[in-house]
Amino acid sequence: MIKNLKRVGGALARRGRSAPAAPVEAPPPAGWFPWLLAFAAGTLAGLVVVVAAGLLFKRAKKEREESSREAPPQQKLRGGGSSEEPPAHKTSAFGMQGKRAAMEDAHVVASKGPVTVAGVFDGCGGARAAKLCGARLASEKLRQALLDSRAGDASPAIAAFLASCETAVDAEARRAGWVDATTAVVAVVNGDTLSVGWVGDSRCVVVSGAGARVLTRDHNASNPAEAQRVRAAGGLVGRNEKEAKASKATKLAAKVLSPNIAYRTHPKNPMRVYPGGITLTRALGGRPLKMKSSCPVVADAETATVPVAGATHVILACDGVWDVLDAAGAADVVVGARPDDAAERLARAAFEKGSTDNITAVVVELPSTPAARSEPEAE
Ligand SMILES: *[C@@H]1O[C@H](CO)[C@@H](O)[C@H](O)[C@H]1NC(C)=O
Ligand SMILES: *[C@@H]1O[C@H](CO)[C@@H](O)[C@H](O)[C@H]1NC(C)=O
Repeated sequence: MIKNLKRVGGALARRGRSAPAAPVEAPPPAGWFPWLLAFAAGTLAGLVVVVAAGLLFKRAKKEREESSREAPPQQKLRGGGSSEEPPAHKTSAFGMQGKRAAMEDAHVVASKGPVTVAGVFDGCGGARAAKLCGARLASEKLRQALLDSRAGDASPAIAAFLASCETAVDAEARRAGWVDATTAVVAVVNGDTLSVGWVGDSRCVVVSGAGARVLTRDHNASNPAEAQRVRAAGGLVGRNEKEAKASKATKLAAKVLSPNIAYRTHPKNPMRVYPGGITLTRALGGRPLKMKSSCPVVADAETATVPVAGATHVILACDGVWDVLDAAGAADVVVGARPDDAAERLARAAFEKGSTDNITAVVVELPSTPAARSEPEAE
């Protein structure tokens, strides 16, 4: 468009030059007026383009915000079906972005009798994968297999659920061109047994009088075991691409000098997987990361099952919490909180500590003492 205008301006200029000389009140000296006109027109056109782009961007942003409002991922559900058995656990769930409660990540918590199912999904590169997985866990039909895993170990059911989420996200990615990825941590508390399955760097922490214990192992490239798995699968690991692609000689030099000098990266920066450059080594979705023939970022869930007799709380939260709080710090917050707002207290504590990320948490309070166990449920 600007090119065209210039051509028009040029034409104007030529015409100006070839115009017959005016007699007395000669117009301004030949040449400069048409150029000024062209310049003004060009500037105006540029301005119009900038304003239009701004408006389009604003509209797209508004649409994105609206679509993220549509599907509220903050779901606190009853187990569904029979209500003859009151739920054994008090639960809370909360998600926020910046200062506001937000619908960016997804979290679900549902109780039925002695079984509580909870999940946190932390979106990356877009919220759609997280929302799809949250909606699947919120769907009574899909959750049923987890709620029904009453005989102890629910980890096979959780692994199967997470595998089905990967299939569902991948189908949407192919159909609608999604690139969105998400972490997932799903827990099933069944009486005195806790099963957890996870993909990515959201964590599950069990709190008891003896302290707080992290049950998950972050699937990130700073985790040596994961870095090794990535390299074995043909991926590269480094704090930046330069480090990831460094030769043996450079690596040796970096050991002697420092990463600052050798790679121009701070030693404290997190490790990333290349190609792609993300810190996660496992995620649901993220199709572009997985299209390579050697595919270091995978969706394989890890699971754990532990006894929780005597424990007081189970916390599920995304890295927005763990960036600024360790397990003990999080435990301090939830132990002092009311059961119905422990998750919000935890998210706000992380925000106050300076977390800049999206913050999502679910807290399940366990009936830790026999007295509490027989306490009637106030719903
Ligand atoms: C919060 O989540 C949204 C959706 O997943 C993402 O686009 C955004 O970048 C996140 N914000 C931060 C600070 O991570
Ligand atoms: C990566 O995982 C390790 C091992 O679980 C953990 O200690 C570390 O804090 C994580 N780093 C980041 C940047 O998330």
